[in-house]
Amino acid sequence: MQKQELAKSFESIGEEYDRFRPGFPDAAAAEILPARVGSVVDLGAGTGKFTQRLVTRADRVVAVEPSVAMLDVLRAKLPDVEAIVAGAESMPLPDSSVDAVTVAQAFHWFDRETACAEIARVLVPGGTLGLLWNHSDPDCAWDRACHRVAHPAVTDEDATTDSAAEELPGFTFERRTEIAWSENITRADYISRWLTVSSFLVAEEETRAQMVAQLEAILDAHPQTAGQSQFALPMRTDVFIYTAS
Ligand SMILES: C[S@@+](CC[C@H](N)C(=O)[O-])C[C@H]1O[C@@H](n2cnc3c(N)ncnc32)[C@H](O)[C@@H]1O
Repeated sequence: MQKQELAKSFESIGEEYDRFRPGFPDAAAAEILPARVGSVVDLGAGTGKFTQRLVTRADRVVAVEPSVAMLDVLRAKLPDVEAIVAGAESMPLPDSSVDAVTVAQAFHWFDRETACAEIARVLVPGGTLGLLWNHSDPDCAWDRACHRVAHPAVTDEDATTDSAAEELPGFTFERRTEIAWSENITRADYISRWLTVSSFLVAEEETRAQMVAQLEAILDAHPQTAGQSQFALPMRTDVFIYTAS
């Protein structure tokens, strides 16, 4: 399956995505923007799950996202945010016009070289780029097992290291911070969350049903989840910070 096809799998699921996907801790936004700035672009903003963490941290918040369905949800939730339909590789924003760019859970979908050049173009010199990914907690065996259903080819080590790089063209790597947090989630919502993941979205109906059955079997078997209708799901958010050089 082509990467572009997987990236487009989100196009029709704005509301489900917003309802079931995890959010981000405020500490992740504070890590990227410790002091208020003039303007920030949230790139690959989706339905605004991270954008909403930025509204108190910048005078102007711009969401850039190629999926109209995702952006419609964002517009309804965050009417004060400027919402632009565009991809990371070509943003209709002037040169040196924003103080910071954030990318939550989306940088791996971009054409990396082109997107880096475009992000560097719109940032002011020395501007901040913050990349974020939510990860499962390596010590949470049942959640890790469910991840392997969705991404059988990805090893546990890959899952925490392949998304970002310390070297990005045009940027200086500053630091990586991992933030541990936890969310309470019902079993039904946990399963529904997996149905918004690209590998489930693009699977044939029969395969998807088999994948869901595997998730149910994992939850039925593990002592921390068996017979429970709600769980505490430990999460990690990895934040990578760069400055435009
Ligand atoms: C996993 S979602 C993350 C959405 C949101 N940032 C969040 O954390 O909830 C990935 C997003 O990247 C967007 N995307 C895919 N390819 C993109 C590209 N080339 N440029 C910008 N966004 C892209 C998708 O449409 C989708 O909304």
